[in-house]
Amino acid sequence: MAITGAALFIFAVGHLVGNLQVFGSPDLINNYAHFLKSKPTLLWGVRLGLLACVGLHIASAIALTMAAREARPDRYAVAATYGSTTSSRYMFLSGSVILAFIVYHLAHFTALLPGLNGTMDFRKLTTELHGEQVADVYAMMIIGFQVWWVVLFYLIAQGLLFMHLGHGLAAMFQSLGLRNHVWWPRIEGAARIVSLALFVGYALIPVSIYLRMVGADYATKARLRVAETGKAARPEVVAVEFAGREGGGR
Ligand code: HEM
Repeated sequence: MAITGAALFIFAVGHLVGNLQVFGSPDLINNYAHFLKSKPTLLWGVRLGLLACVGLHIASAIALTMAAREARPDRYAVAATYGSTTSSRYMFLSGSVILAFIVYHLAHFTALLPGLNGTMDFRKLTTELHGEQVADVYAMMIIGFQVWWVVLFYLIAQGLLFMHLGHGLAAMFQSLGLRNHVWWPRIEGAARIVSLALFVGYALIPVSIYLRMVGADYATKARLRVAETGKAARPEVVAVEFAGREGGGR
């Protein structure tokens, strides 16, 4: 559980760093996404590795829960707890919602299932990079997070990820035999700070997009282009075309 959890945590940090590029120019994140997709061996290696980690992590969680139930088949008469935090008691629940979120997230941004995003067909959002038509991941993220219930679901999942990591990161050290009375309070404090930093980083993306602080004009132009022609192009090109039409008509 600790080792697969550590691998998933490393992915979560790397994924956040990649996603924070949405605060830069559209080409920045589009280039990054295109680079990843142009390396299928690396991409599928990481995907299969992640899938194995998620599977083993869940299998360990089920085994641990069953072992705990076997150790104490009768429920306590009084539901009082001592020495455990709320996060530690709800690990199975928070983990299950995070899993449901990941399934939704993959359908939303990787499989691009149009019926699930509450807005439009993301497959139509493409842009030109180095003379090639590629997926416009920037436009997809901006348009995707202009939908209130999508933002709400992401925030709930990220809140639960914060709770899950707050306990999980510290517990990982204990599972690996690295707990002692001097280091434990420091490990717990560091786990809280790191999980909070991850929460703030992840939450910043949907919130600032929803509040139209990032990319709103770009998204409007990308949408207009798809609505008009059914094809996608660089939104800057659309802007020039629209300006031309306003001056000279169709
Ligand atoms: C604001 C939060 C997030 C944003 C904006 C975001 C964005 C994205 C995007 C755009 C993709 C698709 C990449 C592509 O196919 O080009 C993706 C894939 C993925 N995301 Fe996220 N993500 C977020 C949070 C998370 C979280 C919290 C997790 C897990 C803990 C996660 C796990 C994944 C996984 C497993 C993939 C599939 C990677 C692949 O294609 O192999 N994401 N994400």
